[in-house]
This record gives sequence, structure tokens and C-alpha cells, in this order.
Amino acid sequence: MGWNNWNSFGCDVSENLLLSTSEQLVSLGLRDLGYQYVVLDDCWQQENGRDQNGKLQPEPSKFPNGLKSISGGLHDRGLKFGMYSSAGEMTCARYAGSLDHEIEDAESFASWGVDMLKYDSCYHMGRIGTPLISFNRFKTMSDALQATGRNILLNLCSWGEDFVHTWGMSIANSWRISGDIYDAFTRPDDLCGCDPNVLSDPYCIAPGTHCSVLFILNRVAAIADRSIPGGWNDLDMLEVGQGGMTDEEYKAHFALWAALKSPLFLGNDIRAMPAAAYSIVNNPAILALSQDPHGRSVTRVRRDTNANKDTDTIPLDEWGVGETHVWTGHLQNGDQAVIFLNAAGDDLNMSCSLAEIFTAFGPGGSAPHVRFDWAVHDLWAHRMDIDVAEAILAAGTAEERGALLRKENWYNATETPYADGLRDGDPRLFGEKVGVVEAGGVLRASVQRHAAKVFRLRRIAKDGQEFKGKSIDRGVKDEL
Ligand code: GLA
Repeated sequence: MGWNNWNSFGCDVSENLLLSTSEQLVSLGLRDLGYQYVVLDDCWQQENGRDQNGKLQPEPSKFPNGLKSISGGLHDRGLKFGMYSSAGEMTCARYAGSLDHEIEDAESFASWGVDMLKYDSCYHMGRIGTPLISFNRFKTMSDALQATGRNILLNLCSWGEDFVHTWGMSIANSWRISGDIYDAFTRPDDLCGCDPNVLSDPYCIAPGTHCSVLFILNRVAAIADRSIPGGWNDLDMLEVGQGGMTDEEYKAHFALWAALKSPLFLGNDIRAMPAAAYSIVNNPAILALSQDPHGRSVTRVRRDTNANKDTDTIPLDEWGVGETHVWTGHLQNGDQAVIFLNAAGDDLNMSCSLAEIFTAFGPGGSAPHVRFDWAVHDLWAHRMDIDVAEAILAAGTAEERGALLRKENWYNATETPYADGLRDGDPRLFGEKVGVVEAGGVLRASVQRHAAKVFRLRRIAKDGQEFKGKSIDRGVKDEL
């Protein structure tokens, strides 16, 4: 979790941007919700390439005190420093790349106190086309980072090329699975390629730059289970707060990225953050899905593309019409996350049976879980009030903000890690109980157009109490 400058600033990077953003991350309580990495993306280098010793150098007008001083500033604030390069002769913005310079560049990153490297794939000199060719190209940097002795996370940014989801976990901590996200919920765009439904591009030759939230969800669906603790599918940086989507669309985007265990990098200018965006990304009940110790992604158990086929009446920016999804997954304490996504043009009533929700434990209703009653918790129920969010954003000092957050008793994961809060049943992580699904029954909810309902199902024992912090697998066995 962290922040990356690319989505809102592109090449307009500087020392001031990183340090002022890092102050804001701390004073808004975002660091203490887990947003720790401040990532400097492309365009940090001097224009004329490497220095006379073959070393990468930052552009002095952007970084007058060098990069070590940036990492020092971030570390002093309890944050971590992420940087960017490309496994090519140039970065995507045409600065010097690290291909065939991996050892000296890894040493530079380590000497600057870098904690994470986002490693892109532009200008790869044709070293692409089979999984092994790409694997070897990226492994060289992975090995070079290891050899520095510094713990540096590696994020591969090869947009799904050469089946990175099948080998990324061996050499890296996360890997992008699509072309670049853009600030649109369902709008298709020819600049986003690699459609899994289009057989003409099975090898993902043109990953592209205009990928909608819905496109990325459809792309990750078949490989969602490839995320494992320590190696994650990366759905790209968040667009929350950028202005191109509605509040409900941003809530859906954020919750799905969390439940799919994507790295969560804020992509907006958090120094000028709308209150609505702040109150989306600071929701601890949603973040607890992302940080659940079980560490497995939700998967999709249902996709319906016939929900609303009235394409004639749908404006261009609402293509993707008719599509609804149900995503679900097991959580460490035995709860079950369920997300109803309505990407159709109209509000809809959605439903899904317990038999379908628990398919992973046995198809056709054979999972023992189906024989229990489940309490339904709405994880958006305790979203921060907009006036509280506005007051925090408007507060003049970090102390005032801290006081307001404490008054709200807002979650602080630095003090209480999510694993502890979940184990102890901290109510701030469980939303609000809004109903019950009886054994063998069906979960139903009305879902606005372009919105998601996000639930945590909690098993109810025979005596009517919800289980707290107890593994369903153990619990089910005990009772059968
Ligand atoms: C690629 C990446 C983006 C960003 C840019 C920088 O497009 O996918 O996330 O890093 O390069 O040039």
C-alpha cells in the first residue's frame, strides 16, 4: 500500500512533490492505515542519460538534494521509498533504462535507500515473446537487487505479457496484469488491448494505456487465484479522487482492488484530495479485506452479461452494459467476503445462493458451509461522514488532524495491525450487520448502476451468536 505519482502527475516529479505528499500521508492518518510506500515513477532522471561513470543520476532541477535525501525524509516519517526503472534500453518516457545495467543500477537504488522498485518493460530490445525470455530479462534485476543485501520489493510492470502471472512469483512481489488503467469505469477504448475474449491477441502484444476498471476485472478474473502471499496480481494504481468516475464507481473500484489483493497505490494528488475520495480510501473495513492474513484473492463465481441488453439507449460512456459479477473469497477467521458488482446501465436486484458463494468448498451445494446461517455485514456502513472528512482535510496542522482522527476513534494499523484487529473482532473492521441468510438460502441485495455492494458473511452458531475469530474449517468440523 502507498502512493505513486504517475496517474496524477505523469512526468511532473520533484523533491517537493514527494516530501509534501509524504507529510500529507502521515497527517491524514493514511500511513497509519497502511499506505507506506511513496513511489517515484518515471522521469526522475537527468535528460542526457548516464553520467561519465555509467551511473543513473536524478535530474538536479527536480531533485536538488539527490535521492538519498528523499529516502531519508521518507524514512524519518515512517514511510518507505519506491522508485522506477525499465527492463529496456529506455524507460517508457525515454530516459535511460536498466537493461544490461542491472548490477550497477541495483547498487545505485540500494545506496539511495530505496525499498521498492517498479520495473517497467518498455524498449525491451526484442527480448520478449516467450515466458522464458521475459523471465530471464526480469530475473537479472531480481538477482541484482538480492545481491545488494538490501530488502527491496520488486514490482514487475510488463502488463501481463508472456504470461507473467505464471512465473512472476518466483522472482518478484507483484506483477501488472494489464495495460495502464485510466479514469473510467466501463468505457472501452482501442488503446487498451489484450482483451481475454478476443482470440486475435492471445499473447497480449499490445497491452495499451486506456484500460477501464471493468476491463481490468475481466482480465484478472481467470487468474485471480495466482495471487499468493508475497506475490500478487497488480491491477494498477488507483484512480479514486481523479474526477472521472462517480462516487459509487470509485467505491466499487477501490473495494474490488482491495478484495482482489492488488497492491493499493493511491494515484491522486492527496494534497488536494476531495473529502469523498478520502472517505473511500480510509475505510478500515475495506482495507481489512486487502490486509486479511489468509492472503488469498476473491474469485468470481458468476458473470452475467445479459442483465441489460438495451444497448440502443445506452450512451457511449456506459458501454459494458448488462454486466454483473459476483466475487467471493474465504477470509482468515472463517468469514466470507462477497461482492455484488453491477456494471449495467440500470439499478438491479442481485442475488447469489450460499451454494454458489461456497463453491470453492464443494460444488453444487455440497460445501458444509451451506448448512449454516450467516450474518450479513455491509462493509461500507461506517464510511467516514463527509463533514468529518472535510474537517480533517481543512485542519491547519498535523496535530489538529491527529486530534480529529482520535476523536473519531479512527482505525490505526500501526498501533493495531489488521491481523490483531480481525482476531479480536474490532468492530471498526466489520462494518454493520444488515441481515441474515439462512442455511441453504440466498443472499439478495439491490445494487445501483455502476456500483458494488461489499459484504462480509459471518457464520452464526447454533446458539445464534456470530463466530468471532474462529476458523470456519475447524468450526464446521467440530459441529458436524
Ligand atoms: C508505463 C507503466 C505506467 C507508468 C509509465 C511511465 O506505461 O505501465 O504505470 O510507469 O510507463 O512512463
